[in-house]
Formats: sequence, structure tokens, C-alpha cells
Amino acid sequence: MKIPPQISRLLLLTVVIVLLFMSAKTILVPVSFGQYGWYRGQALKENSSSGIAFAGHEACEECHSDIVKRKAGARHKGLNCEACHEANAAHAEDPNVSPGKITNPQFCLRCHVKDFAKPEKFPQVDAHEHAGKDACGTCHDPHRPSESPAK
Ligand code: HEC
Ligand code: HEC
Ligand code: HEC
Ligand code: HEC
Repeated sequence: MKIPPQISRLLLLTVVIVLLFMSAKTILVPVSFGQYGWYRGQALKENSSSGIAFAGHEACEECHSDIVKRKAGARHKGLNCEACHEANAAHAEDPNVSPGKITNPQFCLRCHVKDFAKPEKFPQVDAHEHAGKDACGTCHDPHRPSESPAK
């Protein structure tokens, strides 16, 4: 029995497509894919080996009880240190490592800029009307914002 030429061409084409698919799959799928499930197994190792960035407020409070005292009873008492001071595990581990300065004089606007989407009760200001170009810290202590800076 002879296979008609149009059928053998179709068969050949099918084989070529299957081979192409299989080699593309080998090249494109990462090695550890499927090791544990429907994702790259290596990703677990990569994520768990990246260092710790945040120390958590308990760590900061151990050494900076003066700031904790200042913050207590103020409306900023619920704000974690690192919400403003950035992730600072390196400094908490070794105080000789600088925690960095907050250099933007109007950095407080990150949370307090007036925005109709915010709850009305949340304290917010029109920066231009309220402070012009002045630094927020000239009138507000960052840790006890209802008062002037301590020093
Ligand atoms: C092991 C003790 C320790 C821990 C934990 C610690 N600090 Fe400090 N920190 C220090 C010392 C010591 C200084 C330098 C003296 C000072 O200003 O009180 C300092 C200074 C600072 C300063 C002022 C730096 C400057 O240039 O004026 C900031 C801001 C600060 N720490 C924030 C933090 C934050 C945020 C955390 C938590 C992530 C933290 N610290 C955790 C000991 C610590
Ligand atoms: C609302 C934002 C905010 C929060 C929350 C906050 N800080 Fe600060 N902190 C500032 C700013 C702004 C400064 C002044 C600029 C600078 O030193 O970087 C400052 C300064 C400091 C300083 C050095 C000068 C000083 O006043 O003694 C220390 C130390 C400090 N912060 C520690 C802390 C710790 C510890 C916490 C958590 C208990 C905390 N801060 C929470 C905004 C904040
Ligand atoms: C991460 C967000 C965040 C940042 C940054 C921040 N604040 Fe606040 N602020 C808050 C929250 C939350 C409250 C409390 C709101 C409430 O009680 O409903 C508050 C309250 C206040 C109040 C009202 C205080 C009172 O007693 O009426 C003032 C004033 C204020 N902040 C000023 C500042 C200043 C100045 C800075 C910069 C040093 C700053 N905030 C940075 C979140 C922030
Ligand atoms: C010249 C001094 C001065 C400067 C600079 C200043 N403030 Fe104030 N701020 C005040 C005074 C006084 C009040 C309390 C009276 C009032 O509500 O206007 C206040 C109140 C606030 C409140 C509470 C508003 C409310 O509805 O409860 C927020 C939030 C605030 N300021 C944020 C800021 C931010 C953010 C900056 C920097 C962009 C800043 N302030 C700069 C003097 C100042």
C-alpha cells in the first residue's frame, strides 16, 4: 500500500511541529519548574536567601526609649519607626551603620497631602496654603506632631 503524497507531507509537517514544540519547551522552561508544584522550585531558595530588610518597631524601641516616650500619647504613636525611617535592619543590627537621614523637608506630605479620596477625619493639609515651601519640621516634632520640635 502506498501513502498518498499529500498525507505523507502532512505527517512530516506534524512530526516537525511536535519536535519544534518539544525543543522549545526544553529551552524555555526553567530547570527547577515543577520541582514542588506548578512554579519554579528555585524561587523558594532565592527568596529565602535575600537578606532581612525591616527590623520591626520592637527592635528600634529597645534602644530608642526616648523616642518611644515622646511618641506615646501622640497621634503618631501607632506609626512604626520604619514607616518613616525606611527599612533599617542593618542599623538595628549594628548602630554604627547609619540609619540614613530623612532629607525631604516636606516628606510628611507622603501621608498628609490633601486628597478627597482620603477619609475626612484623617489630618490632611493643602501644602501650599499650610506651609508654603517651609519644612514641616520647623513647626512639628515628627514624633509628637501636635507640638513644636523638642530641641
Ligand atoms: C542596638 C541599639 C539600636 C537599635 C536596635 C536601633 N538603634 Fe537607632 N541608634 C542607635 C545609636 C547608638 C544611635 C546614635 C546615637 C543617637 O542618636 O541616639 C542611633 C541613631 C539613630 C538615628 C539618628 C541618626 C542620625 O544621624 O541622627 C535614627 C533615625 C535611628 N537611630 C533610627 C532607628 C530605627 C528606625 C531603628 C529600628 C529599625 C533603630 N534606630 C534601631 C542605636 C540603635
Ligand atoms: C512620622 C514619621 C516618623 C516616625 C513614625 C518616626 N520617626 Fe524618627 N524621625 C522622623 C524625622 C522626620 C526625623 C528628623 C530627620 C532625621 O533625623 O532623619 C526623625 C528623627 C529621629 C531620630 C534622631 C533625632 C531625634 O529626634 O532624636 C531618631 C533617633 C529617631 N527619629 C528614631 C525613631 C524611632 C526609634 C521611631 C519609632 C519608635 C521613629 N523615629 C519614628 C520621622 C519619624
Ligand atoms: C506613614 C504615614 C505618615 C507620615 C509619613 C506622617 N504622618 Fe502624621 N499622621 C499619620 C497618622 C496615621 C496620624 C493619625 C491620624 C488619626 O489619628 O486619625 C497622623 C497625625 C498627624 C497630625 C495630627 C496630630 C494631632 O495631634 O492632631 C499631625 C499634625 C501630623 N500627623 C503631622 C505630621 C508630620 C509633621 C509628619 C512628618 C514629620 C508626618 N505627620 C508624617 C500618618 C503619617
Ligand atoms: C509655620 C508652621 C507650620 C509649618 C511649616 C507646618 N505646619 Fe502643620 N500645622 C501648624 C499648626 C499651628 C497646626 C495646628 C493648627 C491648624 O490645624 O492649622 C498645624 C496642623 C497640621 C496638621 C493637622 C491638621 C488637622 O486637620 O488636624 C497636619 C496634618 C499638618 N499640620 C501637616 C503639616 C505638613 C505635612 C507640613 C509640611 C508640608 C506642615 N504641617 C508644616 C503649623 C505648621
